[in-house]
Amino acid sequence: MVTIDWANLGFAYMKTRSHIRYTWKDGAWDKGELVTDDTITMSVAAGCLHYGQECFEGLKVFRQKDGRVVAFRPQANAERMQRTAVKTVMPPIPTEMFLDALKRVVKDNLDYVPPYGTGCAMYVRPLLIGTGPQIGVAPAHEYTFLMMVMPMGDYYKGGIRPVRAIVFDDYDRAAPLGMGDVKVGGNYAASLYAHEKAHSMGYPVELYLDAKTHTNVEEFATSNFLGFKPDGTFVTVKSPSVLPSVTNLSLQQLAADLGHRVEVRTVPYEELKEFAEIGACGTAVVVTPVCEIHRNGEVIEIGSKDTCGPNLLRLHDAVQDIQFGRAPDTHGWCYPIA
Ligand code: COI
Repeated sequence: MVTIDWANLGFAYMKTRSHIRYTWKDGAWDKGELVTDDTITMSVAAGCLHYGQECFEGLKVFRQKDGRVVAFRPQANAERMQRTAVKTVMPPIPTEMFLDALKRVVKDNLDYVPPYGTGCAMYVRPLLIGTGPQIGVAPAHEYTFLMMVMPMGDYYKGGIRPVRAIVFDDYDRAAPLGMGDVKVGGNYAASLYAHEKAHSMGYPVELYLDAKTHTNVEEFATSNFLGFKPDGTFVTVKSPSVLPSVTNLSLQQLAADLGHRVEVRTVPYEELKEFAEIGACGTAVVVTPVCEIHRNGEVIEIGSKDTCGPNLLRLHDAVQDIQFGRAPDTHGWCYPIA
């Protein structure tokens, strides 16, 4: 049995028993194997190293109230990874293979799935990379698909507590046109400079605006944007350069179930001051309230600095209750593993 300090678990790499690894060669995927060594050997000319031919996913596995272990909507992650693979010219992972990988790696690491009641979950990180040598600008000829797992607690320390965000008008998040629906590391690398700058100024996260006009909200560095208007309308962003977050889609459904009007549309930055609650959402951050947005010395204040607003809290609890098996899984989102 592993000994982990669940109460102080944040979001950091932890070596677990194994990851699962597959190789694509001569036009086909192999059967995959559980690997205990957490290092990888590849050509110095691998396509992922030179031309960033890689993509990743993020999903969670929960130990539920009755002891069952389930993954949250893994089919949606498999489908997004397939879209990303097409856009980055890599061999897509069939959903069946993705789910098989998930079951095998989670079952081999069951003691790393946090106990019910800790509030922690297992984070699953599927990764697809071009490993074949490729020095001319073209897709690689060999690929590795792996799925690693690790337990995680809060992404932002302190539970569901409001964070401050900042907008930098001189940095855009470089998602080439038409690439917003994919999850590639390159997008994150392009935002690391601004992300570190935000951290050094005391902001856990930065908010990106549309690169063309800097007038419309896109998403936070780590997560999608959502908010509630004073009349209870749930609003989130529609934009071709925003990641289609599985958490956001789930929250839209739950907001509708709770009787909120749901709007997915362009959100002008100027409108933010009219919001009663603003939050960030994603697999890692779940629902994180945002209490201040700073831009060029001006501040938009939203709700309390100490506590989460009521609508965001209700949504946070609604999704977590399903994930932890405290509420009926009416949408069939929980995928049984053990
Ligand atoms: C996730 O939420 O799964 C992500 O990939 C975001 C990242 C900041 C950890």
